[in-house]
Amino acid sequence: MIKLINLTKTFRGLRAVDGINLEVKEGVCFGFLGPNGAGKTTTIKMMAGVLKPTEGRIIINGSDLAKDPSAAKRCVGFIPDRPFLYEKLSGLEFLHFIAGLYGVDNLPSLGRRISELLELFELSHWQEELIESYSHGMKQRLVMCSALIHRPKALIVDEPMVGLDPKAARLVKDIFREQASQGTTVFMSTHSLEMAEEVCEEIAIIQAGQIIAKGTGEELRHQAGSDGNLEHIFLRLTEGKGLAHERPLSSH
Ligand SMILES: Nc1ncnc2c1ncn2[C@@H]1O[C@H](COP(=O)(O)OP(=O)(O)OP(=O)(O)O)[C@@H](O)[C@H]1O
Ligand SMILES: [Mg+2]
Repeated sequence: MIKLINLTKTFRGLRAVDGINLEVKEGVCFGFLGPNGAGKTTTIKMMAGVLKPTEGRIIINGSDLAKDPSAAKRCVGFIPDRPFLYEKLSGLEFLHFIAGLYGVDNLPSLGRRISELLELFELSHWQEELIESYSHGMKQRLVMCSALIHRPKALIVDEPMVGLDPKAARLVKDIFREQASQGTTVFMSTHSLEMAEEVCEEIAIIQAGQIIAKGTGEELRHQAGSDGNLEHIFLRLTEGKGLAHERPLSSH
């Protein structure tokens, strides 16, 4: 469903994403882990088509994102780490607006789809309120609704759990699992190996732009030769791999 081939992004000489090769199959929930500055957001932005790769290719549902961007993007729902919302719209107006962007605003089933999603993310009571009155977690859930409106085959999410309370986090994890069981591929970045292991059947760890480990939580444990403590595994896999990305570009 998602294929990254030698994917590379260079920012003024810094290889923020450095020749990544990954394949994620249909219906898989995939966790993308790595420390700050590892290249997660840069990879995800390229997959969502908002950042152009320096080298390499991205294939989504058989379409090359560079050659046939509209076919590839139609299959993707993207939830950025810092979403932009029109605060002066109500939740309902925003969802209709996004449906228009995806070209699904004429579907007779749209009203039902929107109600379903608002219900799923527990936002029905807030649909008429202006987004500016929403809490952070409510905005986050509204963006998730908007990313699912066109029934994407791949859901690409950058740090979905940041700022969610435990109940909302539980809800979102369950929805991701449910989406995957219905055949949607979920590609999510996170800092938490624990979270990734709970939700994702496959995990890749990125460090300084490169994939340094890949597999199930159990396989990562094995690779790290660790005692099973998830924090230890993460630290062991990423330690001593270079901190080049933590220096500002001006010092390069
Ligand atoms: N627009 C940009 N211009 C220059 N450098 C950038 C730009 N965007 C990202 N970088 C650099 O690329 C590297 C990877 O950043 P990225 O945001 O992808 O990391 P991340 O893994 O998402 O980190 P975090 O966990 O903090 O979100 C960092 O060194 C960052 O400074
Ligand atoms: Mg990031």
